[in-house]
Amino acid sequence: VGFTLAYLDETTSTNDVARDPRYDAGAVVIAERQSRGRGQRGNSWSSSAGANLTFSVVLCPGFLETAQQFYLSKAVSLAVCDTVESFGVRPQVKWPNDIYIDGRKVAGILIENDLAGNFLSRSVVGIGINVNQTEFDPALPNPTSLAVAAGRKLDRAEVFRLFYEKMSFRYGQLQQQRYAAMDTDYAARLYRLGETHSFVDGRTKVRFEGTICGVLPTGELEVRHRDGQMHRYLFKEIEYTITGIG
Ligand code: BTN
Repeated sequence: VGFTLAYLDETTSTNDVARDPRYDAGAVVIAERQSRGRGQRGNSWSSSAGANLTFSVVLCPGFLETAQQFYLSKAVSLAVCDTVESFGVRPQVKWPNDIYIDGRKVAGILIENDLAGNFLSRSVVGIGINVNQTEFDPALPNPTSLAVAAGRKLDRAEVFRLFYEKMSFRYGQLQQQRYAAMDTDYAARLYRLGETHSFVDGRTKVRFEGTICGVLPTGELEVRHRDGQMHRYLFKEIEYTITGIG
């Protein structure tokens, strides 16, 4: 099986580059600098050049129905968690797919899917991992890096190599539809599972108290409100981001 790795000094966004169909399944586009790094919810992703990892992996999960596409997000989140764990650090997944250490964000994931009918055809999985950065833009709510958490500078190539290995394992689970195993591993790492705290309704901006009870196969977050009623939220319908407030 061939393996393409494109290493770019500078580009707009590795997700944009990896969109090019000449990159086959398994191809990776890494950039040292992104001038227009993109995050979820229309946010930008800034990363200090030379310190971190910003890359995109091309996958062709033609076997995966759109109804199950959250399992691709789970597989990627778990691969990043597995990578973080190999450095002796405990990661958590802040739903849907931010990777946290000690309540601070260490990595972000942006997956862009092409569909063929009810199935996925090609996915560009963009990942930004803060590896060796130690100073952060004060405008960011709660950043951290692997080096800050591990207490030592890390070899970025090793972090990437580990990620690729863990991603291959998790992608294998996805192909074999080992959803129960993935659900267990994801729930075990779910940030604030079972804790009561305040959320903001993404539409009304009203703050309320609730408890995260889990994530449904559709990817919806299940939250029990104080009156005991269970509500389901899609991404963008609920916020619980900022440490201290959320
Ligand atoms: C998020 O946390 O909102 C997602 C951040 C994803 C950032 C990565 S960096 C590599 C790839 N290229 C991009 O433009 N974004 C993703």
